[in-house]
Amino acid sequence: VTSNRRWVLARQPDGPVQSGDFRLEETAVPTAPLEPGEIFVRNRLFAVAPTIRNRLKAAAGHRRRGAVAVGGAIPGIAAAEVLASAHAAYTAGDRMVIMSQWEDQSRLRPDTLPVPVFPLTPDMSFEDALGPCSLNSLTAYFGMTDVGRPRAGETVVVSGAAGSVGAVACQIARLMGARVIGIAGGKEKCRWLMDQARIAAAIDYRAGALAEQLADAAPNGIDLFFDNVGGETLQAAVDRMARHGRIVLCGQIAAYDRPGGAPGPADMMRLVYGAIRMEGFVVGDYADRADEGRAQLRRWLDSGELKVRIDRRHGLLSLPQAFVDLFRGANEGTLLVENDR
Ligand SMILES: NC(=O)c1ccc[n+]([C@@H]2O[C@H](COP(=O)([O-])OP(=O)(O)OC[C@H]3O[C@@H](n4cnc5c(N)ncnc54)[C@H](OP(=O)(O)O)[C@@H]3O)[C@@H](O)[C@H]2O)c1
Repeated sequence: VTSNRRWVLARQPDGPVQSGDFRLEETAVPTAPLEPGEIFVRNRLFAVAPTIRNRLKAAAGHRRRGAVAVGGAIPGIAAAEVLASAHAAYTAGDRMVIMSQWEDQSRLRPDTLPVPVFPLTPDMSFEDALGPCSLNSLTAYFGMTDVGRPRAGETVVVSGAAGSVGAVACQIARLMGARVIGIAGGKEKCRWLMDQARIAAAIDYRAGALAEQLADAAPNGIDLFFDNVGGETLQAAVDRMARHGRIVLCGQIAAYDRPGGAPGPADMMRLVYGAIRMEGFVVGDYADRADEGRAQLRRWLDSGELKVRIDRRHGLLSLPQAFVDLFRGANEGTLLVENDR
């Protein structure tokens, strides 16, 4: 392979992201020698992650994650193999999950990436690493077992429940003995949650007022809300929290496609009177416990207690549309794009 295909930002999306916000460039594969601390990788499989949308905004206000300039490469989590290394910790042939870029081959500096590198053991396939045992599954695992910690019999509500993180979060809460209610868009996703994820109830937020549906499904209130969505969804859950309830902030996808930040609930006194705890977390902080998380996920997967749905797309050229689909709910589970080079 002598050329490198790369997606760059064509323009800063104004409102809902569109595939036309990205532009494909084809350049010669760089041949200049690596500098100390750099590695050169081939990107084999991409995980399409909604949080990248925040870096396409003019002012990416999150200190650890800078804004992508117009003309800049699009960052993306990938399963990659090392082609060459000038970094003491990596050698050619190593396989990893890494914050890479939407291109065939990338020159990266692992120590400066906003997400730590997750090395792969030889027995782990790229699909396993970005699917069942992915960072998203680990997000659900640590977000639920370490941050949320549901107790048996508690009512747990998960938003974005049929998505990559959400579906695993639902099932882990179920395995911990909670009564789980998932919120998702559309009949088909709700059916999957009931039949495959085997949770207690699924709410189709597109089919009617969320507040009423939550009141029906959680008559005694919500003990734990695991939020992937934010905005009106978070508001409806806050209004339904039980006393001493907990809210785990995993993501705020409803806000990513809008200018500015992600607004909080309207009346914080609701949290004061309810003695409610609200806590965010990022999976990167659990890098040193990834093996433990993957081992537990593997046991649940092997025993059939945990189901993961993969929505696999083909070819580097399908990356922008796959990304746009995340914000339309047009993905069915973990969205992966395999490189065709
Ligand atoms: N804290 C962390 O470390 C961490 C790590 C990874 C991911 N995350 C977060 O986890 C969340 C899920 O990410 P994922 O990769 O698993 O994506 P995903 O859930 O597989 O896909 C995104 C889903 O979000 C839903 N959605 C999109 N726009 C929405 C809106 N305006 N209102 C309600 N639902 C909407 C859609 O499902 P419906 O069809 O149901 O609407 C869509 O399928 C994101 O917020 C992401 O940023 C956090």
